[in-house]
Amino acid sequence: MIIQQHLPKELFRGKTVFITGGGSGINLGVARHFAALGANLAICGRTQERLDRAAAELRELNAHVGGKVLPVAADVRNYVALEEAFGRTEAEIGSVDVLVAGAAGNFLCPAEDLSPNGFKTVIEIDLLGSFNASRIAFAQLRKTRGSILFISAAQALFPHGLQAHVGAAKAGIDNLMRNLALEWGRYGIRSNGITPGPIADTEGMRRLSNPEHETRTKGSIPLGRYGHVDDIGQAAVFLASPLAAYITGTLLLVDGGSSLIGSALWNEAVEQMVPRKSAQG
Ligand code: NAP
Ligand code: COA
Repeated sequence: MIIQQHLPKELFRGKTVFITGGGSGINLGVARHFAALGANLAICGRTQERLDRAAAELRELNAHVGGKVLPVAADVRNYVALEEAFGRTEAEIGSVDVLVAGAAGNFLCPAEDLSPNGFKTVIEIDLLGSFNASRIAFAQLRKTRGSILFISAAQALFPHGLQAHVGAAKAGIDNLMRNLALEWGRYGIRSNGITPGPIADTEGMRRLSNPEHETRTKGSIPLGRYGHVDDIGQAAVFLASPLAAYITGTLLLVDGGSSLIGSALWNEAVEQMVPRKSAQG
C-alpha cells in the first residue's frame, strides 16, 4: 500500500498509463501511484496470473474515479504481441498518455562466463523491449501529447561487477530516452528516465544483493537506507504530471545518493556470490 501521496487524487483522471513489467516490484509500485491519482492502467508482463493479481489491487486504488485496469500478457520482445496489447488498451481504456518502460531481466554473471544468448536476452528484454514499447506507443502518445518514463539503473552510469549485460542494456536505454526527447519533442511527447537505487523487497534486490553485506551497504548510502517502491512511484507521477511540463531528456536519480559512492562495495559483495567458472583451471 502507498505510504505517501501528496498530489490531487484526480490528477490523472481520464488518463491512461501503460506499464511494461507492471505486474510486480518497482513497476507495480509506480502503477499504484498512478492508480491512486485516478489513472486508468494497462499493465503487461509475461505472466497473466501475476498481472491479474496486480490488477485486482489497482482496481481498488482507482475505484474513487471509476478507473479501469487492463492486465494484458505480452512479452516485450514480441513486437506483434505488444502491438496487440497497445491496441486493446486504446480500444478498452483509451489512448495512452503515459508509457512506463520498466520490464527487465537480470542475473549476476561474470562477463567471461556469460553466453552470447545470455547477453542477448537481457539486451532484448531491456533495450529492445523499451524501444518496441516506445515505437508502438508513439501513435497514441502523439494524439495525447503524452510522455515516456524509462526505468534505468546505476549500472548504466558506471560499471558494476557481474553486470556487463545490464550495464550495456541500461546505458542504451538512457541514450534512447534522450534521443526520443530530441526527436519527439516536436509532437509534444516528453521522454525521461528514472534511475532507482537499491529498492527493498524487490526481485532485483533478491537476485543481486548479498544479505551478508546489508548493514555495510545500507550504511554506505548517503541517506542511510534502501529505497522503497513508493520512492520511485512518487518520482514517476511527478515526471508524468504537469509539474514537469518543461522537463524532457532528463535522468532522475532516485537513489538516496548511492551513485555518489561508486560500485566498489557492490563489486566486493557480488564477487562472493558467483564463482568465476572460466577463471578456474
Ligand atoms: P521485477 O519485479 O522482476 O520486475 C520486472 C518485471 O518485468 C516483472 O513484472 C516481469 O514479469 C517483467 N518482465 C520480465 N521480462 C519480461 C518480458 N520479456 N516481457 C514483458 N515483461 C517482462 O523486478 P524489480 O526489481 O522490481 O525491477 C523493476 C525495474 O526496476 C527494472 O527495470 C529494473 O532494472 C529496475 N531497477 C530495479 C532496482 C532494484 O533495486 N530492484 C534498482 C534499479 C533499477 P514477468 O516475469 O511475469 O514477465
Ligand atoms: N547466469 C548466466 N546466464 C544465465 C543466467 C544466469 N543466472 N540466467 C539465464 N542465463 C542465460 C541462459 O543460460 C540462456 O543462455 P544459453 O541459451 O546460452 O544457455 C539465456 O540467459 C536465456 O535464458 P532463458 O532462461 O531462456 O531466458 P528467459 O527469456 O526465459 O528469462 C531471464 C530471462 C534469464 C532474464 C530471467 O531471469 C527472467 O525472466 N527475469 C525476469 C525477472 C528479473 O530478472 N527481475 C529482476 C529485474 S532487476
